Amino acid sequence: MDMQTPKPRLGVKDFAKKDTPIVCLTAYTAPIARLLDPHVDILLVGDSVGMVLYGFDDTLSVTLEMMIAHGAAVVRSSSHAMVVVDMPYGTYEQSPEQALQNAKRLMKETGCAAIKLEGGQEMAATIRTLVRNGVPVMGHVGLMPQSIKKLGGFKIQGRDNAQAEKIKADADAVVAAGAFAFVIEGTIESVARTITKSVSIPTIGIGASAACDGQVLVIDDILGTFAAFAPRFAKRYAELTPIIAQAVEAYAADVRAHRFPGPEHVFNAK
Ligand code: KIV
Repeated sequence: MDMQTPKPRLGVKDFAKKDTPIVCLTAYTAPIARLLDPHVDILLVGDSVGMVLYGFDDTLSVTLEMMIAHGAAVVRSSSHAMVVVDMPYGTYEQSPEQALQNAKRLMKETGCAAIKLEGGQEMAATIRTLVRNGVPVMGHVGLMPQSIKKLGGFKIQGRDNAQAEKIKADADAVVAAGAFAFVIEGTIESVARTITKSVSIPTIGIGASAACDGQVLVIDDILGTFAAFAPRFAKRYAELTPIIAQAVEAYAADVRAHRFPGPEHVFNAK
């Protein structure tokens, strides 16, 4: 492929083999999607949007309408990465029929390639219904943020045998139900390794070690723009908070000194 040819949009089939590590980041807005698109395999419009952009303490208040608006912006502003959109809390747990109706709306109104939902054995029938009806599903096991009230907070899962076995059984159920990949969140390396080795579809870890087939992180965590919460496992690749503060301070100083000229002045010219 020559330098001018844009890379084709990746789809679910491109993730059928577990041969290369999957690069995945969250994206919620058009400008960030545009920046990330050439560098990643999957853009996940996660319901973490509620915490990162809306300032909620957890993901439980996120609505389908919010996910549709952010999902559509990310699809419009990307052309290479596969876009996966989270089903928010309260939009799929009631029944497979409820899940199918809302998943179809998400797919139609955003143009995304797949949806992600949280849950293992208890979600198997739902995943099966979605897949049979043409909705590709990414699963999510281990630490499930939509269940933090039940889990007692954002806690590492799988430290004892019972938890480890539950995560393994959840993963097996998600695979058997027809998911094309699944996220493993917040679990120890030995659990992630056992699961990843035993399943035929890719595992995408977040705080679950390099034993997984790929990694997803929250974009604001790696750029240092989400000060409210800094997970220890998320490496900071940039520290943008002081840079933004400095720029805004300089802007404020200009305005206060009446240095904001008209159109005859050209800024940012190369
Ligand atoms: O909502 C989200 O961003 C997620 C991940 C980071 C896996 O579910």
